[in-house]
Amino acid sequence: MALISRDIFQAAKALNEGEVIGIPTETVYGLAGNALDGNVVAKIFEVKERPSFDPLIVHVSGVDQVSEYCEKIPEPLAKLADNFWPGPLTLLLPRKKIIPDIVTSGLPRVAVRVPSHPLTLELLKNLDFPLAAPSANPFGYISPTTAAHVNAQLGEKIPFVLDGGNSQIGLESTIAGMEGDEAVIYRLGGLSIDSIENLIGKVKVTSHSSSNPQAPGLLKSHYAPKVPFRLGDIEVLLKESEVENERIGILSLSKEFDQITPLNQVQLSPSGNLNEAAQNLFAAMRKLDDLDIDLILAEPMPESGLGKAINDRLRRAAVKD
Ligand code: TXA
Ligand code: MG
Repeated sequence: MALISRDIFQAAKALNEGEVIGIPTETVYGLAGNALDGNVVAKIFEVKERPSFDPLIVHVSGVDQVSEYCEKIPEPLAKLADNFWPGPLTLLLPRKKIIPDIVTSGLPRVAVRVPSHPLTLELLKNLDFPLAAPSANPFGYISPTTAAHVNAQLGEKIPFVLDGGNSQIGLESTIAGMEGDEAVIYRLGGLSIDSIENLIGKVKVTSHSSSNPQAPGLLKSHYAPKVPFRLGDIEVLLKESEVENERIGILSLSKEFDQITPLNQVQLSPSGNLNEAAQNLFAAMRKLDDLDIDLILAEPMPESGLGKAINDRLRRAAVKD
């Protein structure tokens, strides 16, 4: 198992030695390594068992670092960076040559983000290189929001997880870039579309991949539990289901269902708060996935604020490719 600790100097030492480690961010935990070293980046793909056509996000300590790795930030994106960094926003920017091809899968843009977790920001400030980091889950599975989640699945393959507690946002970053003069959102995430549009006006939201149609964060089936997962009106699904009630788990926003034991139910936010629901989402999916059951039923959230991004993840969890 990996060593779990809050010691950023130990984390920095491992990274300086070319190791790949778990790091906390406010969105989800990342599987991090030196973004400027192609061999280290290759190790990230290997540990995650991720196909190499899917590029990685480069994490930097501040907007002042961006010019080392990218050409100029186009205006509407610069405004987003000024307002929302550090935070759950990733920008696709024209890359400089210093970024190895393997980081971007050879694409002309590199994904960059300034995370807001204090430990990881401090760590980045102590390093001479930025950190490439995908979410620290095996390819296709639910993203981790605690150090224990990372350790449970990747602990055998990495020496260290920097423990920063529970991820405060709980959903991966929102990904934005430009197409011509238009700002485009490629992945719904921890920064709501409303917050973005309040600042820069209407944006295009596309479900097409920013990189490759097969890109995992954007694959139809992703974030998928091992137990079959269905999304819809829970009362209706319960009536339709042929699985016995004892073998069913339920994921709801706030409602409890009398037919099912409370042990097999998770309410994401008893008060109906969608930020709280986002924070609890992935841990709840993991908890239900670890029960001895045959079916998980989930209901869609209201389509406001982070509800849209939560629904995106629930839909992908429900798809079986
Ligand atoms: O919140 C997050 O974004 C977390 C934390 C650790 O920062 N990271 C994360 O990384 O979710 P990952 O690898 O699981 O998802 C990143 C997505 C990829 O699926 C890919 O499609 C897109 O970002 N992406 C990365 N680099 C890109 C590039 N150069 N061009 C187009 N899309 C890119
Ligand atoms: Mg991911």
